[in-house]
Amino acid sequence: MGRGVACAGSVVLVLALLQSCAAYKLVCYYTSWSQYREGDGSCFPDAVDPFLCTHVIYSFANISDNEIDTWEWNDVTLYGTLNTLKSRNPNLKTLLSVGGWNFGSHRFSKIAANAQSRRTFIKSVPPFLRAHGFDGLDLAWLYPGRRDKQHLTSLVKEMKAEFSREAREGTERLLLSAAVSAGKVALDQGYNIAQLAQHLDFINLMTYDFHGAWRQTTGHHSPLFRGQKDARADRFNNVDYSVGYVLRLGAPAEKLVMGIPTFAKTFTLASSETGVGAPTSGPGTAGRFTKEEGTLAYYEVCDLLRGATVHRLLDQRVPYATKGNQWVGYSDPESVKIKVQYLRNQQLAGAMVWALDLDDFRGTFCGQNLPFPLTSAIKDALTAA
Ligand SMILES: *[C@@H]1O[C@H](CO)[C@@H](O)[C@H](O)[C@H]1NC(C)=O
Repeated sequence: MGRGVACAGSVVLVLALLQSCAAYKLVCYYTSWSQYREGDGSCFPDAVDPFLCTHVIYSFANISDNEIDTWEWNDVTLYGTLNTLKSRNPNLKTLLSVGGWNFGSHRFSKIAANAQSRRTFIKSVPPFLRAHGFDGLDLAWLYPGRRDKQHLTSLVKEMKAEFSREAREGTERLLLSAAVSAGKVALDQGYNIAQLAQHLDFINLMTYDFHGAWRQTTGHHSPLFRGQKDARADRFNNVDYSVGYVLRLGAPAEKLVMGIPTFAKTFTLASSETGVGAPTSGPGTAGRFTKEEGTLAYYEVCDLLRGATVHRLLDQRVPYATKGNQWVGYSDPESVKIKVQYLRNQQLAGAMVWALDLDDFRGTFCGQNLPFPLTSAIKDALTAA
């Protein structure tokens, strides 16, 4: 009897180990400002399906007097809403992302450059995360410059040491991740990837925004592969190059999480040319809900697709749509599945989604009544045998 039980026990253990080793991460960002979008664009954390992602990252937190702090007036309430999702799925991990575009790189720079302010910041993090029920921190320093490279490494190394020390007090160690630029110039300039990877639990590679209105020509912002017309520096502007480069710089594949955008980047065409590389007069028209020129949420793309012409870039494996003078490079269930196949072939840690609130989170715009169609397609492709 004893043997039988021991055998059954070890089979269960082996299965559990296999599951935890083989399971891909699905790391999903939620942005707190999405609450302010009007009508059906408004997104609160209770819209998030607790079983969709393995990790949800709440963005962004502030730093005030060198200590981590809230950003929105109602952050504490929303932290609570997000973290109660864990009562429905105890395996879900939540992280708080600090920084972001509006935070300003120079502020991070000042804190990280000084051992005392770095210490103050690091010390403030675990009590804040614990008080609000988070399982970890995501650093979103966008983007460290040449002089910040060593300071970012120190910040990450010391943060990890603090998390390890804090965990000895009987709790599970807090997770530490970072959002890292996918652009070659920014990577070379600001990140010591090999050293960062030693201390981070995972790296969220922002493999999107490769192309934008600043270029004055059309192009997809998150192509999987280099396009036929991509010469010179443009040969770096695709997911495949960026992933390969970060691996060559020393990030272990099992810590690299590949970003997949749910948002589109849009352009206004300047002529009757509508292909890739066509001249543009500026960013595309702002969306009805997201209200920002040059970008659309997937649910806004679904609206726009009615009456639009859809093309697939066979070399770059992503779709774009044209309608009137608008050119829209977007993600669809097919393109995200191809990207997941790619990251599985590369044996990466998983996929990151920016952002849940830019997917069709209600399932009312893109048909089929399926909430989060893009993130669900990613999940399905990650978990398929
Ligand atoms: C973030 O912190 C800085 C420094 O204390 C402060 O000036 C700023 O107003 C804060 N931002 C928000 C959105 O609270």
